[in-house]
Amino acid sequence: MTKYLITSALPYINGIKHLGNLVGSMLPADVYARFLRQKGEEVLFICATDEHGTPAELAAMEKNQDVETFCTEQHEVQKDIYTRFNLSFDHFGRSSSHQNTELTQHFCKKLMENGYIEERVIKQVYSVDDGRFLPDRYIVGTCPHCGYEAARGDQCENCTRVLDPTDLINPRSAVSGSHNLEIRDSKHLFLKLPALESKLSAFIDEHEAEWPLVVTSIARKWLKEGLRERCITRDLKWGVPVPVDGFEGKVFYVWFDAPIEYIGSTAEWAEKDPEHRDWKSWWYDAKDVRYVEFMAKDNIPFHTIMFPATLLASGEPWKKVDYIKGFNWLTFYGGKFSTSQKRGIFTNQALDEFQPDYWRYWLMANAPESSDSSFTFASFAATVNKDLNDVLGNFVNRVLKMTASKIGAAVPAGGEWGDTEREFVKTMEARIADYTKYLSEMEYRKALVELRAIWVEGNNYLTAAAPWTVIKEDKDKAAMILRLALNVIRLYAVLSAPVIPETAEKMLALLNLDANATAWPSGDLAAELQKLPAGHAVNVPEQPLFQKIMPEAVADLCQRYGADPEE
Ligand code: 2FM
Ligand code: ZN
Repeated sequence: MTKYLITSALPYINGIKHLGNLVGSMLPADVYARFLRQKGEEVLFICATDEHGTPAELAAMEKNQDVETFCTEQHEVQKDIYTRFNLSFDHFGRSSSHQNTELTQHFCKKLMENGYIEERVIKQVYSVDDGRFLPDRYIVGTCPHCGYEAARGDQCENCTRVLDPTDLINPRSAVSGSHNLEIRDSKHLFLKLPALESKLSAFIDEHEAEWPLVVTSIARKWLKEGLRERCITRDLKWGVPVPVDGFEGKVFYVWFDAPIEYIGSTAEWAEKDPEHRDWKSWWYDAKDVRYVEFMAKDNIPFHTIMFPATLLASGEPWKKVDYIKGFNWLTFYGGKFSTSQKRGIFTNQALDEFQPDYWRYWLMANAPESSDSSFTFASFAATVNKDLNDVLGNFVNRVLKMTASKIGAAVPAGGEWGDTEREFVKTMEARIADYTKYLSEMEYRKALVELRAIWVEGNNYLTAAAPWTVIKEDKDKAAMILRLALNVIRLYAVLSAPVIPETAEKMLALLNLDANATAWPSGDLAAELQKLPAGHAVNVPEQPLFQKIMPEAVADLCQRYGADPEE
């Protein structure tokens, strides 16, 4: 039997993430994990905060905190937000854990033993007043091409030209503004990617047919341009120490240890319950594991080339990814969501505005799969109003209220299915098969079109069967229709649970069913739709499942988030 290991790209620690981060990795991974669990599969869903690197150090400095305190605090902040979004991680770890430190150092030693690491001395900018080496992007100065005064050492934001820090006129430290900079020699470790080229190429070949184009095309581009040796160490204090003589005071480059934290976080998870959990069975010689990774496109080179390179070069049987689901960008009114420029909606703000399922549903229905997609409040409101309110919410409300008022608050007895019901079951069967297939394939947009269509079928059936008219002449037949409709609510809760888990729970509670009663429907849909027996008590909704978002609210949101109300 196959077990599923699912990882979402690790959100960086330096601040609260925006909706683009959520839709590009954590949310789709959660939908997939929930779906597989409902199907009865063994799933391990792992994530963590990515805590090393200069951005973390600088963000801590800005808050006047030491970096460890900063990371501990920010880890809790992010964790709380993801809990509120109902992301069902089995473990949400920290890349600064001792497990990750040990694993990262282990890989370094293995790679050295196997001859895949080389020492080199490079010239780097040292800021005397800051007492530290500065990464390229933390040196600013005047662009030699366009004269822009705040160009970064790696690139000019104004003319987009790629720069070397030594190109800058009047260079200074972005940390302190000091001009007291020197070029100093510094010894570093380089990963010999060219020596791994044929192994990496074979690894991509193996998956070419199955993986999404956005993933393979980026990996191929890297391979085609030729792999270069990559520096995997940094002159920083904060990070995983390099366990090599002469490298005291140096740490690994954040992109070297971050993916290893997928393993580290699994080890953290196991350490919480060592009697029942074994992290190695998921990662080492794990032939019964199917490993699926979720990420946005900027992360793809690191997951198709760099991380596999580390695993391959170790010469040990580490589990490598089987499938990568990559995403394009979600834009905010066509422009970039930006953490640094505070543009767009952040995950904490989103939760302050609306219940998580509104966001989960809109984001998955509009997932940037084959191309970028754009968030607008008008689109968000239209989707919430039409799909969630008019189609799903309305069905649940109508059926429960009608049953309670015309017959009583329990599943009614009497009557037998006729042709209309058998026809309805057949149509639903086909749609559910498609929906299940799309979820298995992680084709989220297609899956959500199908989910909505499944909800529409219920409304169509109800309109055609018209129990409110039938009841006047044939009480038994009306009872049969409402009994089926109540069973449809149960089925909707089960089918919707991967995407809108909180709503699914509310629906199950209305039917007096356990929140965990979400086993994925078997092939026999007729049986599924008779699971709620006559006499089973149900509740009348005190308030509708969803609330419409009115035009005034849209205008207000646009104003508060600096968006154009015309779009
Ligand atoms: O792009 C990012 O936000 C990174 N923190 C993703 C890391 S994914 C993994 F490799 F750790
Ligand atoms: Zn420039």
